[in-house]
Amino acid sequence: MRLSQYLAHAGVASRRHAEELITEGKVKVNGVTVTELGSKIDPEIDRVEFNEQLIQGEPKIYLLLNKPSGYLCSVSDPYGRPTVLDLVSKIDQRLYPVGRLDFDSEGLLLMTNDGYFNNQMIHPRYKINKEYQVWVKGKVEFGEENQLRRGVELDDGMTAPAEVQILQTEGERSLLRITIHEGRKRQVKRMCSAIGHPVISLKRTAFGCLSLQGVSSGKFRRLMPAEIKQLLDMAAGRQY
Ligand code: URA
Repeated sequence: MRLSQYLAHAGVASRRHAEELITEGKVKVNGVTVTELGSKIDPEIDRVEFNEQLIQGEPKIYLLLNKPSGYLCSVSDPYGRPTVLDLVSKIDQRLYPVGRLDFDSEGLLLMTNDGYFNNQMIHPRYKINKEYQVWVKGKVEFGEENQLRRGVELDDGMTAPAEVQILQTEGERSLLRITIHEGRKRQVKRMCSAIGHPVISLKRTAFGCLSLQGVSSGKFRRLMPAEIKQLLDMAAGRQY
């Protein structure tokens, strides 16, 4: 869709006036001033600002869901398994999960209809920390814990250094807290298997500045504007 058309639809100005606003440098797309007439945007993905104010097409929505195990992180499933959308069915807007948690994983999952936000959260360039609590088979020794910290070789390459703590050892299993900023497919499970301790269960307990506090399993809450800003700032490399 043409940028001027988008601005007109959003009620910012008439089409003609919107073109003037663009050439005057008053419109930004994804943080970059756009002055070219005829510029196109994808309303699902791009973030348009006029005079530093975000233009809302469809109202943007940001949820923090505490995903239970046994739900697919997908908008539909050909095999009819429950999906995370079933857990937010009282929200009318179209939503999709930000990144993935495996079917049998649980914990903190963001959901949104803001494509720009989604991209900032999942792109490998933006290093948002994700914290997991993981029960693994066997007793994890100090040397093995250190291997995870330094990085382990997976079939898609070496993992970046991770923060790792052994929280508990109970019989023939150990509870680890692992914090990583990468988001490769099944990464934590593959990392633990690589040091000889397959994962029994996995829960994401934090994502950037967010935790699961106050949100029980299967429930969700909306993010506050300050939280959305903080996450976007973190993705942009601004420290907290
Ligand atoms: N790492 C995994 O292996 N699985 C998840 O669901 C999330 C991170």
